[in-house]
This record gives sequence, C-alpha cells and structure tokens, in this order.
Amino acid sequence: MKPAAGTTTGSRWTGAVGEEPAIRADRLTKAYGPIHAVQELSFTVPSGTVAGFVGPNGAGKTTTIRMLLGLVAPTGGTASVLGVPIGRGAHYLPRVGALIEAPAFYPTLSGRRNLQVLATLGGFPHARVDAALERVGLAGRAGDRVGGYSLGMKQRLGIAAALLGEPSLLVLDEPANGLDPAGILEIRALLRTLADDGSTVFVSSRRPPPSRKSSCRLRRRAVGSRPRSLARRLRMPSGSGERRESRLSW
Ligand SMILES: Nc1ncnc2c1ncn2[C@@H]1O[C@H](COP(=O)(O)OP(=O)(O)O)[C@@H](O)[C@H]1O
Ligand SMILES: [Mg+2]
Repeated sequence: MKPAAGTTTGSRWTGAVGEEPAIRADRLTKAYGPIHAVQELSFTVPSGTVAGFVGPNGAGKTTTIRMLLGLVAPTGGTASVLGVPIGRGAHYLPRVGALIEAPAFYPTLSGRRNLQVLATLGGFPHARVDAALERVGLAGRAGDRVGGYSLGMKQRLGIAAALLGEPSLLVLDEPANGLDPAGILEIRALLRTLADDGSTVFVSSRRPPPSRKSSCRLRRRAVGSRPRSLARRLRMPSGSGERRESRLSW
C-alpha cells in the first residue's frame, strides 16, 4: 500500500536551529534476502534544513524513507527521527508529513474536497485545507477536479496533503519524478518557500544538485562485495536564506 500523503497531526512547524537532528541514521541497513537495498547508510539531517537525498534508480532511496517512516523494519543499524528511535513510530510519525511516490487522489473530486477527506481522516481542522492549498500555489485551482490536474499539480496537492498536519519534518520521495522542466521548477520553487518557513525537508531525487554540499549521494553496493558505507555523512549547517537556496537546487 502506498501511504497516503498527509498522515500527520498536531505540532507546529518548528525546524529551529540548534535542536536535535531531524534525522539521524547510523549504519542503517535493509536486506531483502540476498538483495542489499540499503547498506550501512549513515547521515544526519539537522533541524531546519532542506536535505537532498540523491541516487539513481534502485539506490535505496525509497527503502531508506520507508524505514524512516516505520513502513519496513531495518535489518541492521539504527535511526532516529525527531529524536525518537524509528521503532517507536507512534512517538514521531504524528509530526512527520510524507509523500512517497505518486499520491493517490479521487479523480472526480476537487483538490479541495480531496484534502477535506484527508483532513477528516487525519482529524485535522478543515480550516487548514485552504491554507495548505494556498501554500502550494493551488488555491486558484482548488475547486477543479483532480482528474484534470497536471502531474505537477498532483504532486503539489500531495505536498499540500502532507502539510495538513503542520509537520515538523516533511519527507518527500522524488516529488519531481516524471515532471517536465517547468514542473520541476515549480516544485523547486515550492520547496524554497517551505525552506523559507524554517521547515525541515528531506527530499529524494535521481538528479544531483549543482552543489554537492546539498546532497547525500547514494552509491549502489554490488551484492556480495565487502560491506561499506553507501553514503557519506550528510551534515548541513543551517544558514542564511542564500545557503538554503543552494541546498534546494536539485
Ligand atoms: N520489497 C522488496 N523486496 C525485494 N527487493 C526490494 C524491495 N523493495 C526494494 N527492493 C530492492 O531494493 C533496491 C532499492 O530499491 P529502492 O529503495 O526502491 O530504490 P530507489 O528508491 O532508490 O529507486 C532495489 O534493488 C529494489 O529492487
Ligand atoms: Mg524510489
């Protein structure tokens, strides 16, 4: 099952500098039998930053995100999200908004109605729906059927759904996947806006960003070779808006 976007509740956007890391992974590993989907991945995402998580198809991005969201159990290593070990999802998942792969929406309902349904299911006030739509730039099309939305609009609606819970951490798995250059620019601009609000965003992508500082690049380990870290540690100091922008250039 694909997790619905917007499975969040409660807390405010925080992302303040100097807090515990939003994500910490230490030799995180997932094997499916002989397939090493993720091998000894270690990185840290400081609170209040936007972290790009870059790797080709099959590098283990989605598997890593699934482990961080408690959807699959690691076979090795440890990780914590918002300071809570990933085995204790109930203690952090309400503060995490997630978008994994293409979000599913009712095509015959409007974007607003879809978010209202998700808000009801999540126990969020409906007043947040229009604010979320505004935030992702969909306010003008909120009354239109989702079936008529472009892929980029659907992705933005998925991000709006993930924002309904006012999460401390937003995890986006390839939000630009399948988009044309204009759509990619739209999503980039949206992530810049979220960064300006001080949110922590962990975003995976197949495309490397121009600045290597901004990404944690996964290297696929051949099955059977010596264990080694799949990725470098990811440490990105929180900084000025200018630095944030460079981190978002994926
Ligand atoms: N449920 C699963 N069972 C077996 N292999 C899997 C499963 N999920 C992922 N894999 C394998 O793990 C590797 C990493 O997959 P994935 O995390 O989806 O990579 P990415 O998101 O970077 O494209 C791939 O070889 C994939 O086939
Ligand atoms: Mg993937």
